[in-house]
Amino acid sequence: MKILAVTAGRKNGNGEILVKEALMRAEELGAEVKMINLHDYNITPCSGCESCTVKFTQKGEAPECVYKNKDDMDIIMQEWLSADGVIVTVPAYSFMPAGIYRVFCDRHLAYEPNFHKQVGNPAFFKHRVGAIIGNGGSTRSWMSLALESTNITLLAQDIKVVDQVMVTRAPRPGQVLLNDEVLNRSRQLGENVVKAIQTPFEEVKFLGDENLGWCPVCHSNVLSLGEPHWNEQGFTIECPICHCGGDIERDENGKWKFIVEKDGYRKSMLDGSGAKDHFFEIQDTMKKYFRNIDTIGEKRKKYTEYKPATI
Ligand SMILES: Cc1cc2nc3c(=O)[nH]c(=O)nc-3n(C[C@H](O)[C@H](O)[C@H](O)COP(=O)(O)O)c2cc1C
Repeated sequence: MKILAVTAGRKNGNGEILVKEALMRAEELGAEVKMINLHDYNITPCSGCESCTVKFTQKGEAPECVYKNKDDMDIIMQEWLSADGVIVTVPAYSFMPAGIYRVFCDRHLAYEPNFHKQVGNPAFFKHRVGAIIGNGGSTRSWMSLALESTNITLLAQDIKVVDQVMVTRAPRPGQVLLNDEVLNRSRQLGENVVKAIQTPFEEVKFLGDENLGWCPVCHSNVLSLGEPHWNEQGFTIECPICHCGGDIERDENGKWKFIVEKDGYRKSMLDGSGAKDHFFEIQDTMKKYFRNIDTIGEKRKKYTEYKPATI
């Protein structure tokens, strides 16, 4: 039972302390644990070349990132993909997960398990569970997209998120040590990841706080007005994180609830159907580019030739 913790905060900072509590508990329960801090690795930002998506969707082949073996990303991904459980610990920077974590996640595209599945490469596909510790200096309203944005990065990697906690109001390094409750909660999170690994994957359930947010499926606290999808109308209200759809309703106590409709899981990020649908969306959209490549080349000249002043 292998658990990998990925931390994106300061060395010996609050996130590391919290995740170490989780790992200590997981180790007590028999897990083999590893922890990396993204600051210790050289991860080149994605260049946006899209050679991976072109290879996946236009050629039906399994790609390798053009930066493979040129930085540390592949070494990290080998651990990430082979772990049974992943715990991500990210501080909130400007309401969102710290940028270094986003740089790491942008490079996930070439490793997308569900995309590899579509091109008949099962090597990347393994049932995994995960958990998130989000931490920040303020109350949750000042970390409003931190947990949610991290959640979606795990769902996109086909990781079933079984627990999430948000540790608030601890700005200075080590300040979480004044709060035994959050340290104990992190231990519980480590235990929950072990429990989930030991449960048959189909029966794995969310073990965290059910009241964390609006969505009864992924427990995120953001909702979107439904937008048309590439191949259908979509839903009245959507969860932008796990992509289930439905509507909001008031219950008998006057409390607003998000109710997932009967067929509201058809774009779900939790069972691969959303990722599969997105694969075919990219395939369809990019075909238009390749059909019109000469026209685009001609029209593009105006913009490549225009050189505004820069700094
Ligand atoms: C650039 C920067 C932006 C930050 N933005 C936020 C924020 O939007 N909301 C918040 O609650 N805390 C914010 N913080 C505070 C950090 O989340 C806080 O210091 C946290 O404890 C860092 O975690 P670490 O000790 O694991 O590195 C910010 C800190 C920095 C350096």
